[in-house]
Amino acid sequence: MLSLSRSASKEVTKNIGFNNTEFLEGSIEKLDELDKDLNPLIADKSVDIILSNCVLNLVSPESRNNLLRNIKRVLNANGRIAISDIVSNKKVPLRLQNDHDLWTGCISGAWYEPEFISNFKELGFKNLEFAERSAEPWKVIEDIEFRTVTLVGNI
Ligand SMILES: C[S@@+](CC[C@H](N)C(=O)[O-])C[C@H]1O[C@@H](n2cnc3c(N)ncnc32)[C@H](O)[C@@H]1O
Repeated sequence: MLSLSRSASKEVTKNIGFNNTEFLEGSIEKLDELDKDLNPLIADKSVDIILSNCVLNLVSPESRNNLLRNIKRVLNANGRIAISDIVSNKKVPLRLQNDHDLWTGCISGAWYEPEFISNFKELGFKNLEFAERSAEPWKVIEDIEFRTVTLVGNI
């Protein structure tokens, strides 16, 4: 993904006439990881908007607190989120969470839909809503429906 993004950057720069992109490698739940100069990968309050597409479900449930804390930490006072991801209509049982194929298939780590909004609300986010929510499930595994949503909101 990084090499794809970096290789596209040149053409985008040419087309729009300026270069304002930089791609950093890191884990979304570890944006506070320190570099060799002891600076965090992404500084506090330095981000206007977090856009994410199908990444949060790849973070293990035990790292979600770090993930949420970092999302809040890096956003500035006008910070916004637009996060597209997979949610489930029932909590994904451990049996499915432990299935490697389902992890890479963006299923095992899917957020339980009501908690997707409430977890961000508990962090203090406002105006939370699904800008998009697929009416039909994307996948049904056993009796659990998985669908795509885009959660938007602001600090
Ligand atoms: C399903 S792809 C989506 C990629 C891209 N956002 C898109 O829409 O095409 C998931 C990407 O998330 C990356 N990824 C997985 N776990 C991650 C994590 N904990 N932090 C950041 N990126 C992660 C994977 O390497 C992969 O590039």
